[in-house]
Parts: sequence; C-alpha cells; structure tokens
Amino acid sequence: MTRKIRTYEAEELVVDYDLKRCIHAEECIHGLPDVFDAERRPWIDPSKAGAADLMRTIERCPTGALHYRRTDGKVEQPRASNTVCIEADGPLYVTGRLRIALPGGETLDETRVALCRCGHSKDKPFCDNSHVEAGFADAGTIVENRLKPSEGGETYALEISPAANGPMLVRGSVKILCSDGASAEGASCAFCRCGGSANKPFCDGTHNSIGFEAD
Ligand code: SF4
Ligand code: FES
Repeated sequence: MTRKIRTYEAEELVVDYDLKRCIHAEECIHGLPDVFDAERRPWIDPSKAGAADLMRTIERCPTGALHYRRTDGKVEQPRASNTVCIEADGPLYVTGRLRIALPGGETLDETRVALCRCGHSKDKPFCDNSHVEAGFADAGTIVENRLKPSEGGETYALEISPAANGPMLVRGSVKILCSDGASAEGASCAFCRCGGSANKPFCDGTHNSIGFEAD
C-alpha cells in the first residue's frame, strides 16, 4: 500500500503526516496550537516548539496520522499494554505494540491506529471518518463479551489481521475500553468491521448475509 506522507523538518526531529489517516480529532491543535494550525500553510511548523513537547503531542494523535523521526535515531516507544478503545458511533482506537497485516501482504508495525468498524472507509483497515456521513450508530459498549480469555504466554505484540470480506482478527494480550467506562481483558477476538453485527464490537457473522466486501 503506497501512502502519501508529508514531512516537516525541525532541528531535532522530522514530523511525518499521513493526510489520509487524519480524521481531525484535533489533539495536535489543542496540544500545540502554534505548531499545528489548520488555517496556516504549511499547517505544521515544528520550529515553534521544543522536541519534547512535539513528541508528547504527536504521541497523543489517536490515529497514527502523526509520527516523528528523531535525528538521533531514537523512536517512539509503544505503551506498556495494548488497548482497544471503542469510540461510540466511531472507530476502534488501538494503541500499543501493534503489527497490522495490510492488503497486498505488507505488514505495518505501529503504536497508534484508528480502525474502521462501520464498513464504509475507503482506506480500510484505517478509519477515514466515513462513519459520520454513513450515520454509523453504536453505543461503544460490550453486551455479550466474545473476547477469549488469556491462556498465558500471549505475546506482548498485538497482531491485527483484517479477514477478507470479514472481521478484524486480533491476537495478543489486549484490554478493551468501552465508552461507558467498562473494560474487558483477554487474548483474542474478532471485531466487526462491516458495521452490521448485532453484537458489536464483536463479529456475529452478519458480514456473510449482507455481502460485505473488503480486502
Ligand atoms: S491529532 Fe492526529 S488525527 Fe487528530 S487532527 Fe492531529 S493529525 Fe489529525
Ligand atoms: S465483520 Fe461485521 S459481523 Fe462479521
């Protein structure tokens, strides 16, 4: 998958910005308004803050649209555990040590990502904000837990594999955070990504009956 990444250089780091993965959550604009200014061109000016503030703010970008590369070679460290945060009426925000299988056979190592669960993104498996136009509605809670319990020995890395025309398969130690404050911990599950499951966020097989198509 070829992605168009724009780069913005400062003394101690380079900021990478993937426009397609930005769904305008605006953590960056609220965090460092002098650096991230949507009314200015270029809209990112990393010279207006120190490296520590830039890194802290970029690491809060929930979609992974923003990343940094330090000139000394040090890289962003994943959070100590893997979490999937279910956004009501929106995507799955996933953080941790992530390994994502992409269409075409590529693998992406990531620390933050927003995954489509409405079925309408044109940039699957990533969210592109299409849930808004599609009127996707889901409370972001767990009704019937389908997260398989840990059997011990799971890897810290969370493997994320979108099944062709089917769910998002997740394997590895993970904690799900719901929009109502509830949470569940386990080792693997299949998240619905067609938008049709009656037991969201989990897959219930509805993708078959509605003819969901995705790589
Ligand atoms: S925090 Fe990330 S997703 Fe949100 S507006 Fe900034 S770049 Fe886009
Ligand atoms: S992917 Fe939606 S029900 Fe299986």
